[in-house]
Amino acid sequence: MQLLYDINQAIRVAVAAMVKEQTDADGRVSKVTKLNFFNLGRKEPWIEALHQAGYSKVDPEVIKPLFEYLEFCLKQVIADNELGALLKALEGEYVLPGPGGDPIRNPDVLPTGKNIHALDPQSIPTSAAVQSAQIVVDRLIARQRAENGGQYPETIAFVLWGTDNIKTYGESLAQVMLLAGVRPVPDALGRVNKLELIPLAELGRPRIDVIVNCSGVFRDLFINQMNLLDRAIKMAAEANEPIAMNFVRKHALKQAEDMGINLRQAATRVFSNASGSYAANVNLAVENSTWESETELQDMYLTRKSFAFNSDNPGMMDQSRSLFEAALKTVDVTFQNLDSSEISLTDVSHYFDSDPTKVVANLRGDGKTPAAFIADTTTANAQVRTLSETVRLDTRTKLLNPKWYEGMLSHGYEGVRELSKRLVNTMGWSATAGAVDNWIYEDTNTTFIKDEAMRNRLLNLNPHSFRKVVSTLLEVHGRGYWETSDSNLQLLRELYQEVEDRIEGVG
Ligand code: BEZ
Ligand code: MG
Repeated sequence: MQLLYDINQAIRVAVAAMVKEQTDADGRVSKVTKLNFFNLGRKEPWIEALHQAGYSKVDPEVIKPLFEYLEFCLKQVIADNELGALLKALEGEYVLPGPGGDPIRNPDVLPTGKNIHALDPQSIPTSAAVQSAQIVVDRLIARQRAENGGQYPETIAFVLWGTDNIKTYGESLAQVMLLAGVRPVPDALGRVNKLELIPLAELGRPRIDVIVNCSGVFRDLFINQMNLLDRAIKMAAEANEPIAMNFVRKHALKQAEDMGINLRQAATRVFSNASGSYAANVNLAVENSTWESETELQDMYLTRKSFAFNSDNPGMMDQSRSLFEAALKTVDVTFQNLDSSEISLTDVSHYFDSDPTKVVANLRGDGKTPAAFIADTTTANAQVRTLSETVRLDTRTKLLNPKWYEGMLSHGYEGVRELSKRLVNTMGWSATAGAVDNWIYEDTNTTFIKDEAMRNRLLNLNPHSFRKVVSTLLEVHGRGYWETSDSNLQLLRELYQEVEDRIEGVG
């Protein structure tokens, strides 16, 4: 591990040595020039860096291919082919095709300006994705056990997104299979149609039950992978193993008995929207404040997201709300991946829209809220954090980070809108998962409302979005998500009146 860390550091030093940044008058990076690795006129920088890290015996010839590859990656990063390709396309000329996806996972997606295609949907999860998935699965289980007296989770509720599985070549898909102790087996062309049960002795732990909710985009792109997942879970349910070591079977047997259905039907775990429909629409309700109680939001989720995939009857996605609810009742962990730095939990409203944490808490009926975890696989060193930790991290790096909000405000009108949108998305996490600490709203109020100069700036730049910030803070208090002083609330009410008058041209 230390060796990997040191090499990582050495790479950073070496890459920094290869790149010259020019900054503009405001200190922003305006130009990046790559210096040629091999023309620096001194010992290769990576060798120097490795020596400094204490690896004095590193053989330059052995390490050279790695750094040549990194040089290739760097060339890809700084190549600028957008306009060139656009002009070619407008001239009706040939535009080179290439894969889309996450440049960190696959540097071949760069340079941009290609005629991008996604991937062969039959090829996921790839074996690299399975390896990455194993790390996350191990960390997820370890974290849950550490917080639960060593007990294994019995059921994990997963959110699967299409774009994520394009970027990661199916990592989250593989996580689901591995939790249930099923291995995808590629054929000679890398297509994944075959599955095999990992023997319990090899797995070394119980098979964990999984319930999967696929986004509409995932359903549209990866219907064959839904088939694969359904087969994987049913395969686990049908394995004649002791129920203490097979939670899929344990729950499916009980559900079959309770509901008077057979084991395969009871092992239905792969859900999505109705064909042609997308999202739970909880995000729309939250954005427009068109809801009274949280149970309304939960009902929307259960109504819209309870269409079951069935590999025994492919092509049909029937609403199966009772099966969906029965499976959700056993959930003790909810889980989703964040796979690239492009978007995070409060950047868009779709993350909280697809989160079932409070849905499960309500269905369980035993007063327990499931643990909620998020895997951060944006770097090679995947981290599993609680949802609340991730919301905190997101807030500290964006909403409450002066670098972020000053950057936004430099865009004027739109910047204030971005700020208000982010606050609404944060409120969404209170509504669907109870994952927002009080201090987050308190500090938001201190930064953007209590500070007179700041609030006047927001008001002048974009009165409508400023009103949304004020009304959202009043709303989070009104819904019981934020405890604060009477004087804070009083100020917010006065500001609401003031901005309302201003927008309507009164006074
Ligand atoms: C998806 O890739 O599955 C997705 C994209 C946007 C919103 C929600 C889901
Ligand atoms: Mg995107």
